[in-house]
Amino acid sequence: MSTATTEALRLADRINRIEPSATMAVVAEADKLRAQGIDVVDFGAGEPHFATPHHIKEAAIGAIQENFTKYTAVAGTPELRDAIAHRHNVDFDSDYRREEVIAATGGKQALFNAIQVLVDHGDEVILPVPYWVSFKDIVRYAGGECVLLETDEAQGFRVTAEMVARLITPRTKAIILNSPSNPSGAVMSPEDMTEVVRLAHQRGIWVLSDECYVYLNYTGKSFSVGNLREYKDRFVLLGSLSKTYAMTGWRLGYAIATVPVASAIAKLQSQSTSNPTSIVQKAAVAALRGPQDCVEQMRREYIRLRDHMVKGLQTIPGITCTLPEGAFYAYPNISSFLGRNGLKSASDLAGRLLREAHVATVPGEGFGTSDHIRISYATSRAELDRGLERMRKFFAAL
Ligand SMILES: Cc1ncc(COP(=O)(O)O)c(C=O)c1O
Repeated sequence: MSTATTEALRLADRINRIEPSATMAVVAEADKLRAQGIDVVDFGAGEPHFATPHHIKEAAIGAIQENFTKYTAVAGTPELRDAIAHRHNVDFDSDYRREEVIAATGGKQALFNAIQVLVDHGDEVILPVPYWVSFKDIVRYAGGECVLLETDEAQGFRVTAEMVARLITPRTKAIILNSPSNPSGAVMSPEDMTEVVRLAHQRGIWVLSDECYVYLNYTGKSFSVGNLREYKDRFVLLGSLSKTYAMTGWRLGYAIATVPVASAIAKLQSQSTSNPTSIVQKAAVAALRGPQDCVEQMRREYIRLRDHMVKGLQTIPGITCTLPEGAFYAYPNISSFLGRNGLKSASDLAGRLLREAHVATVPGEGFGTSDHIRISYATSRAELDRGLERMRKFFAAL
């Protein structure tokens, strides 16, 4: 939109600080091609290809039939808040109580609310690169400034306390961690995470730990900041049922924080969306309290799909790809193709890959790097093969 139009509309300044989500833009372009009847292989969308497990769906249907369809408490039902705390306490040896848990309409809303509550105008927020698209815009919407922490691909995009310490200034308010990471699939070691949290605690800085992929950790050493009980007055844990239980459309996430922060998040939520959908809350209790073998089955299948995708990518001349240790994304380096055939950027490349080879991916620029594209391998093996074949031909012709 031009400046003149913006001025004529007199939109609030803050809406001009942010961009539409890069991932959503790819989804929209792929949809447009599909509407023209084009068969697109979709590696763009960041969501599980699995159906929501049956017992979770049954709980939602039961909730409707029992007329559990009214407003609930803003922060979620006591039953749901207890279930969230229980799951974390059992799985990560944390010691959360109901009062510290706020259920929200997706992990994104929990994150948005936590940032609005903690970040003021002029505050600095340390953000490791590559970062999930929404972190930067949500911080900017709150009036904060992102201070980018550059990482090294050769070191697996590692983030250490030493690297964080170099960026701390008197204006630093928070650091955002996201392990396993979207888009790189990098996983912080428990040691690195502990050191970063300890440093932040010492320096009076908040840690916002986005753990929406915490159950999709392939290292065999699943770890949550929730385990670091002695530092918990300085971190906010953001979680989601979206990826863990294949429930992206249901919209159920949560923030876990010390009571004053949790109460502030609930206050903000009380003036915006109020409670997450009542029916979904019942389904979420079934997910969190029910059998967890579905989570393990999905995790194992993601490992198989990851291995298949990365092996396939590594056989395409010119592409390199580090092995992601979690989430369901590969983040191949495509820099050897830049400069060839008029290709200037990862965005150019992803655009041509979509238009010419009909494979949807997300260019790295949205995640803060210009040498990569993000590939979601949360799809069937047959679809991976179709996409890999198209990519092989596309890159060979460049
Ligand atoms: C890193 C990260 N955090 C949070 C979310 C938000 O998930 P949801 O709002 O579906 O819970 C996503 C979704 O893609 C994500 O990748």
